[in-house]
Amino acid sequence: MRKLIVGLFMTVLPALGLAAGGSVPLDPMEPDHTNEASLQRGAALFTNYCMGCHSLEYARYKRVADDIGIPVDLYEENLIFTGAKIGELMKISMDKGMAAGWFGNAPPDLTLESRLRGESWIYSYLRGFYKDESRPLGVNNVVFSNVGMPHVLVDLQGLCAVKPTIGESASVDPLSGNVRGGEACTQWAIEGSMTSVEFDRAAYDLTNFLSYMGDPVKVERERLGIYVLIFIAIFFVFAYLLNREYWKDVH
Ligand code: HEC
Repeated sequence: MRKLIVGLFMTVLPALGLAAGGSVPLDPMEPDHTNEASLQRGAALFTNYCMGCHSLEYARYKRVADDIGIPVDLYEENLIFTGAKIGELMKISMDKGMAAGWFGNAPPDLTLESRLRGESWIYSYLRGFYKDESRPLGVNNVVFSNVGMPHVLVDLQGLCAVKPTIGESASVDPLSGNVRGGEACTQWAIEGSMTSVEFDRAAYDLTNFLSYMGDPVKVERERLGIYVLIFIAIFFVFAYLLNREYWKDVH
C-alpha cells in the first residue's frame, strides 16, 4: 500500500513542477498549422527580422518550403539571404561568443522555442516590449524582464512608452471610464507603420510559424490519427465477431 502511495505521489510530482513555472500573465494564442497563409507570412517575417540573430538549425529550408506550401524556387529566391542551398539546415553565421558580448546573452536557436516556452509566451513576448531608459538598449519586456534582445520590430509596432498590458482581459476602469486591456499599449513613444490590430496579426503569424517549427508533423499526425481510429473501429467489428464465434462452443 505504501509503495502505491509513493508511486502515485511520484506520478503527480512533475505536474506540480510545471504548475510552478509561468508566473507572468500571458495573452492566449491558439496556433493553427493548417493556415498556410499565416505560416508563410510568419516565415517571411522571421527571415527578414529574426534570422540575422536567431538560427533554426534543426530544420531544413526545403522541408519548411514543402510543409508551408511555398514553391522551392520562390523560397530560394526570396527567403534565403545567406547563399545556403535549399537542402541545407537553417543556420546563421553569427558568432555566439561575440553575440553574448554585444547583448549580454547569445540569441538562442529558436527551432524548439515553442516547445520550451509555449505559444502564448512567445506571442506575449513579441508584443511586450516597452521603452525603459535604464536598460542598455533603451527597451525592456513585460514578459521577459531585463531582456538582452533589442526591439527589432520597432518599425512595425512602434515603441510603447509605458508597460503594455499583457494577460488582462478588457475591463472598464470605474473611476476614469477608460477601457483597460483592450489594446496592449495606451501611450506611444514612437509610432510604428502598423496599427495595433495589424501588429497583433504579425505577432500571431510569427508565433504560428515558430509553433510549426517546434512540431512540424502535427498536421500529418492528426490526419493519420483519424485513419488509425477508423481502422480500429472497423477492426473491432471483426474481432468481436471472431470472439463470439470462438466462445460459441464453450458456452
Ligand atoms: C539583434 C539580434 C536579434 C534579433 C534580430 C532578434 N533577436 Fe530574439 N533575442 C536576441 C537575444 C540576444 C536574445 C537573448 C535575450 C536574453 O537572454 O536576455 C533573444 C531572445 C529571444 C527569445 C527568447 C528566448 C528564450 O530565452 O527563451 C525569443 C522568443 C526571440 N528572441 C524571438 C525573436 C524573434 C521572433 C525575432 C524576430 C522578430 C527576434 N528574436 C529577433 C537577439 C535578437
